[in-house]
Amino acid sequence: MIEQAGAAAIAIHCRTRDMGMTGKADWSYISKIKELIDIPVILNGDIMTPQDAKRAFDETNCDAIMIGRGCIGYPFIFKRTQEYFNTGIVPNEPGLKERIEVCVEHVKMAEKYKGSHGVVEFRKHYSGYLKGFFEATNVRQKLMKAIEFSEIEGLLWDYYSYLESIDRLETVQKSNIIPELNCNNEKYVKKQLIEM
Ligand SMILES: Cc1cc2nc3c(=O)[nH]c(=O)nc-3n(C[C@H](O)[C@H](O)[C@H](O)COP(=O)(O)O)c2cc1C
Repeated sequence: MIEQAGAAAIAIHCRTRDMGMTGKADWSYISKIKELIDIPVILNGDIMTPQDAKRAFDETNCDAIMIGRGCIGYPFIFKRTQEYFNTGIVPNEPGLKERIEVCVEHVKMAEKYKGSHGVVEFRKHYSGYLKGFFEATNVRQKLMKAIEFSEIEGLLWDYYSYLESIDRLETVQKSNIIPELNCNNEKYVKKQLIEM
């Protein structure tokens, strides 16, 4: 029906409406739907790492993938996934300097296109950009109240200077501690731990 109405492609969320964001996305829907239609089918649901992205293509015959929560405060997933596909090697996580550079640019664009509303809307990204870094909660709490771009930029670079001065620029990724979970989204990891 969607195809007959002229859709060029369809993205499948792989969860029912009742599930919301709970449970695990059921990727088996992809091949069932592929059998019924001729337009490209885009797999969506639970792609949090480059390895998940590869698994999505390996385990289903999807034509493309769509990443939702996995890119919130973590746009690096796209480049890292591309690199992983090209080389077969999982690239290193970006360091704090790169994260802050990108975050500053990102929030600047949010303000440019949507004004102060864009800055407020942007708040959901901070935790992703700073996840795993020492005392990130403190700076995040301040960022959640800031509206002015110059203040946000200052808070982020002050935080960088602080971690540099105390030699704590490294991060501990949950996915390195528990590699079998194959996921670096903190909430998702906690949820999987509960389910284990
Ligand atoms: C903040 C946020 C906003 C979303 N907004 C929409 C939306 O407007 N329309 C929609 O169809 N899905 C929306 N979704 C659902 C996502 O498109 C996606 O289907 C869902 O997050 C599952 O994919 P993921 O596991 O990659 O996050 C949203 C999800 C999040 C986290």
